[in-house]
Amino acid sequence: MMKKIFPFLVTIGLIAFAVGCQSTSPETSALAKADTIDTGEQYRLVYHFTPPAQWMNDPNGMVFYDGEYHLFYQHYPDSNVWGPMHWGHAVSEDLVHWEHLPIALYPDSLGYIFSGSAVIDYNNTSGFGTENNPPMIAVFTHHDPVGEAEGRNDYQVQSLANSTDRGRTWTKYQDNPVVKNPGIKDFRDPKVFWYEASQKWVMILAVDDRIHLYESPNLTDWEYMSEFGENSGSHGGVWECPDLFRLTSDSGAEKWVLLLSINPGGPNGGSATQYFVGDFDGKTFTNDNSDDMSLWLDYGKDNYAGVTWSDIPKEDGRRIFLGWMSNWQYGQEVPTYAWRSAMTVPRTLHLVDTEAGLRVASLPTSELEVLRENSVALESATLEGNQEVGSELNQTSSTLELKIDFDLRDATASEVGVKLYNSLDEEVVVGYNLADQEYFVDRSNAGKTDFSDDFPGRFTAERVGGGDTLSMHLFIDVASVELFADNGTTVMSNIFFPNEAFTQVSLFTEGGTTQVIGGEIHDLTGQSVITNK
Ligand code: FRU
Repeated sequence: MMKKIFPFLVTIGLIAFAVGCQSTSPETSALAKADTIDTGEQYRLVYHFTPPAQWMNDPNGMVFYDGEYHLFYQHYPDSNVWGPMHWGHAVSEDLVHWEHLPIALYPDSLGYIFSGSAVIDYNNTSGFGTENNPPMIAVFTHHDPVGEAEGRNDYQVQSLANSTDRGRTWTKYQDNPVVKNPGIKDFRDPKVFWYEASQKWVMILAVDDRIHLYESPNLTDWEYMSEFGENSGSHGGVWECPDLFRLTSDSGAEKWVLLLSINPGGPNGGSATQYFVGDFDGKTFTNDNSDDMSLWLDYGKDNYAGVTWSDIPKEDGRRIFLGWMSNWQYGQEVPTYAWRSAMTVPRTLHLVDTEAGLRVASLPTSELEVLRENSVALESATLEGNQEVGSELNQTSSTLELKIDFDLRDATASEVGVKLYNSLDEEVVVGYNLADQEYFVDRSNAGKTDFSDDFPGRFTAERVGGGDTLSMHLFIDVASVELFADNGTTVMSNIFFPNEAFTQVSLFTEGGTTQVIGGEIHDLTGQSVITNK
């Protein structure tokens, strides 16, 4: 049975805390409070990263060093809504089990600590460490709330902090900022990488609704290089959280991929992440596709501000991505109280050749397979109507991985897919419409939906890859479902809040039959994969 929560008590506790404590110090960090929070709260995700308590948005500073994946994140430890931003911190050895660490960066006289990246300065170009003990360097936006309130337009600048003890303690650079504001209000979210060919650092920055590129020999002195995007892709909102990296396609094409989050203006409303495929010559990014083409990494409503890990070892070679599994339309209103928001599962990005051209596909990282506890194979069968699956798993909470292949040849159904439901007739439907050739996720009847007009709905995504076999791979975790369809070429991530857990799952068809080729269901761990330290 689901454990019931006491949101009233939790909320009162948070208000008391907020009133009694105006400033943020290490003693009053989220970790200190986490012990008093019920981590089994109704909508607490089990195997996704969530903050120990209070508000979280973008993933930041993701970097791999000395056997650890670091995850920093936008965090306000004094409330469950957005506020003065800190960098929360966690580490993992396998991208699945996370250990919370104390807050890494606190607001200071230059302002809040907005989003950014981290790198290992292996050649000690900055001089902050030694070659034997290279520094970990965080590059972030200082956002000055005073300048903002005064109506200035230069209140976002780029700054540094460094750590020589594996990210455990941080020193801010004494000459911050390292990139001053040229008089543009939205000027933020630096992502830095080492550009091997010219032995220099490159910074990509979101500036209004385009990006700027800078270069530096040492991470402290930066020079402007170029701009991209004025007329390219979608411009329904401000551009945020860029990333730029090289990927080799299945057929061996060497390309550069530019990720860009946009808010609002996503394909299903609100926040979303678009991408461009092209080239980077060390100075300028050029887009391979026509300017009016918009490509989306994820068509769900809940994957925003995602970027990729820095310094993944060459032998590994993966480009690993993580996003914030929420949307600025309603992220601060979702019915959780002790904490707000989760990250997506970690995903590897691949450049794949499709009929439409090169596309970025996302696949859940293989490390997630350690979560599988029980597995059931789905046999080939003709499907008509609803067919319950997975009851053998005896699941008491909805933490499942499901892979299912449908044969579209001879299908007479108009829709096929997967339903998650409960005894209250609430449901989330993840399906494919054969006539429209579109995937969809429908959460209009998924329980609590009225906290925002933008929350309920049926969201759609065009099918990119595929053929006669329709392949759906789902990760379900208490309050979220992530669909990786046709080898990750169409992705949809969406959250939901049922009044009773979705412990039942069925395969369904609408208006006819379809052949199920086969599949598998795995119960994912019932144990929390997060520890506090
Ligand atoms: C994206 C974003 C970033 C900014 C941060 C502030 O969600 O708006 O552009 O740095 O959040 O928390």
